[in-house]
Amino acid sequence: MTSPILREEIIGDCRLLLGDCLEIIPLLHGVKGVLTDPPYGINIAANPVRQWHAQKQWDKSAPTRETFEMLRRISDQQVIWGGNYFELPPSKCFLVWDKFQPEDFSLAMCEQAWASFPSPAKLYRYRVVGYSKEHPTQKPVELMQWCLRFFAAGTILDPFMGSGTTGVACVKLGRKFIGIEIDETYFDIACRRIREANAQPDMLVEAARPPEPKQEGFDL
Ligand SMILES: C[S@@+](CC[C@H](N)C(=O)[O-])C[C@H]1O[C@@H](n2cnc3c(N)ncnc32)[C@H](O)[C@@H]1O
Repeated sequence: MTSPILREEIIGDCRLLLGDCLEIIPLLHGVKGVLTDPPYGINIAANPVRQWHAQKQWDKSAPTRETFEMLRRISDQQVIWGGNYFELPPSKCFLVWDKFQPEDFSLAMCEQAWASFPSPAKLYRYRVVGYSKEHPTQKPVELMQWCLRFFAAGTILDPFMGSGTTGVACVKLGRKFIGIEIDETYFDIACRRIREANAQPDMLVEAARPPEPKQEGFDL
């Protein structure tokens, strides 16, 4: 039988796999948490604002309930961006990213992540304008670092890795990471970004001193 892993790159504590995550996830062991940002199935490639990637088809359909069940079978904890688009069980905890987007702007003012934690909803404020992107839906590294503080120690998996932002955040916080991406162009970008992050001399400083959680309002 041929392996679903088309390429494998090991960079420090990161294992990056090229291939279809639906075929690769059942082969994985030792994953503690899943922090991911799957295709929302809203065909973002057709959005005129993002036409620079119009040839790509990756956002035509969203992962099914079975995909998320498979992720729950291999990990204790999950944070899934775009959780409002998917068939997921009810959860007490949503993580919300306030993008400081002007109200009259056509793009979303915030995004929501479904989280498996039994804690109240949390809010992170980070201005979306002004960070350069190599993927049409690239998340800020700072946002993914903020998410990582909610996970217990152990390996983090991002099965829809895109340009590798979750991996960069893991490197900066000294966490083990497994990333899967189906598109070779994005896979190559992820490899380069994670390699660059791994070569940064200041990464252990951030690992030793993760940012303090910020209380926003009252817990329910
Ligand atoms: C929303 S993007 C992730 C962007 C990422 N958060 C970043 O900061 O770059 C989702 C990614 O999932 C990838 N993808 C879609 N289906 C996949 C599959 N079955 N297996 C692995 N990757 C897949 C797409 O190619 C796309 O790059």
